[in-house]
Amino acid sequence: MSRPDSDPDHRRGPIRWTWRPHLRGEPAERLARDWLAPWIGMAGDERPLPRNAHGRPVIASRDGRHDASWSHSGDILLIAVGEDVDVGVDVELLKPRKRALELARRYFTADETAWLAAQAATARDEAFVRLWCAKEAVLKAHGRGLAFGLHRLAFVEREGALTLAATAPQLGAPETWTVHEFAPLPGYRAALAWRARRLGDTGDA
Ligand SMILES: CC(C)(COP(=O)(O)OP(=O)(O)OC[C@H]1O[C@@H](n2cnc3c(N)ncnc32)[C@H](O)[C@@H]1OP(=O)(O)O)[C@@H](O)C(=O)NCCC(=O)NCCS
Repeated sequence: MSRPDSDPDHRRGPIRWTWRPHLRGEPAERLARDWLAPWIGMAGDERPLPRNAHGRPVIASRDGRHDASWSHSGDILLIAVGEDVDVGVDVELLKPRKRALELARRYFTADETAWLAAQAATARDEAFVRLWCAKEAVLKAHGRGLAFGLHRLAFVEREGALTLAATAPQLGAPETWTVHEFAPLPGYRAALAWRARRLGDTGDA
């Protein structure tokens, strides 16, 4: 794995992201805040961030305009920050997922499960992870996380990319969201989700 300081920051639209080596079980917030400090101004502050009722860190950036999200899987921590947006990120290590279809039947929509079932067996694990990351990134940006319900937003694959096609009303219209799938490192899949910031929305609704 390359050294953390050899990985440049990356940009995607209004989002800046990076990754850091991360040991399983290691507290992620301090590590994330070290990188986020220029925007949210809290590195060195040992007090943990307050969390909303669903566990989402409440980011009170210096200028009130920045939001951030982080995710850990395998050996990495993925961190994202954006200006005037709500942002969510999810990363997952690619590994065999024997229960992919079973989990899809339980948590995804019927159409998404059919899409997964139609994948070649060799491609299904990665397709499952792509879908999981896309859904979780939106739900983390929204602020309620998985408890909101993975079945309450639906993706379809168009021209090789997952596109948000339907949402529960609390999430706002699908077209207000941008979802970007990517591989931060070989062996990982990730998604970034963002939408124009809704002032005063704490994600508790
Ligand atoms: C919190 C949750 C989004 C984490 O998912 P995960 O894939 O295990 O973890 P990730 O590494 O992607 O993300 C973890 C980070 O998400 C953030 N997070 C926690 N709750 C969040 C929420 N409700 N919304 C957005 N982000 C949240 C935190 O920064 C957390 O990191 P930290 O606690 O180490 O600082 C998910 O477990 C969840 O929604 N839990 C709520 C309880 C729940 O729904 N349980 C039923 C599961 S079906």
